[in-house]
Amino acid sequence: MVTKPEKLALLTSGGDAPGLNAAIRAVVRTAAYNGIQVIGVQRGYEGLIEGDFMEMDTEQVGNLIHLGGTILKSSRSQKFKTEQGRNEAYNQLKNAGIKSIIILGGDGTFAGARNFTAEHTIQCVGIPKTIDNDLYGSDYTIGFDTAVNTAMRAIDKIRDTAESHNRIFLVEVMGRDAGFIAMHTGLATGAEAILVPETKTTVDLLIKTIETKKNSKNRSHIVVVAEGDEEGGAFDIAEKLKEALPEYDIGTCVLGHIQRGGSPTCNDRILGSKLGAAAVEAIIDGKHNVMVGEINKEIVYTPFEKAVKQHMELNPCFLQLIRMFSA
Ligand code: F6P
Repeated sequence: MVTKPEKLALLTSGGDAPGLNAAIRAVVRTAAYNGIQVIGVQRGYEGLIEGDFMEMDTEQVGNLIHLGGTILKSSRSQKFKTEQGRNEAYNQLKNAGIKSIIILGGDGTFAGARNFTAEHTIQCVGIPKTIDNDLYGSDYTIGFDTAVNTAMRAIDKIRDTAESHNRIFLVEVMGRDAGFIAMHTGLATGAEAILVPETKTTVDLLIKTIETKKNSKNRSHIVVVAEGDEEGGAFDIAEKLKEALPEYDIGTCVLGHIQRGGSPTCNDRILGSKLGAAAVEAIIDGKHNVMVGEINKEIVYTPFEKAVKQHMELNPCFLQLIRMFSA
């Protein structure tokens, strides 16, 4: 028989993402509804190791759903990568009488959770959040929708200048080694080219494509570059284009951390709310060491091992659309 825990710990780890606060609110309120006390852990795994805990209540998470960042703060802990760090973290939980934990994170966080749960008896449920959207086991991760909308609006503005001055703009977006942000924002802004790490980038082909428009009235181009592209970032590619196309005015813009902040979109608030509630329900149902996700609108559970090892693939339809539209 499954016994409902009296309390559970909650932490956010890795890079912040819009929608984390919506998920925190959902966890605290679903837990309270079910008579479970939430203990918030500050600063991710670092705070877990140090026992930086605080009791959370439903009032504390009021007026929060619309805010970016994370009220629990976050970290990328090096110490938790070591067995000693994980032992210390376990002892803190044990001393506080906590046997269940909900972790909001990305692949690095869940690799840590996989090791932690292999070494210690602790019930752990993960919630996927990362603007990169690169986790296997959920169609979307919390934060992605806001990040692409932020990038889209920024590129729309850059487009005005590109058009007015017949310029080429290389716009670099985040995503680490995944091209989801680039692909979605590129498609949504009608970019003339999108360079992603998942497909081979041929700078010569890019140059040829730009040259075909050389004599047209509208010579502006938006090229969205994923930060992890194998040809380099926007500045590297701009250098190559400048050499080959000296007659063009070429601008470069790295969007950077503006993609990580800001008020979450409706989709991220709802995804955070659904997954936060699903994670508490998974704990109550006695599920162990899984990440909750949403696939085709259904809640699914993926073991940490699989979420970390398998890769989310870019939608091949997107690749085809981009090829067609930029021809
Ligand atoms: O994983 C989210 C992300 O924003 C990546 O897209 C990016 O490469 C990285 O984090 C940046 O991390 P930091 O904020 O630590 O520089």
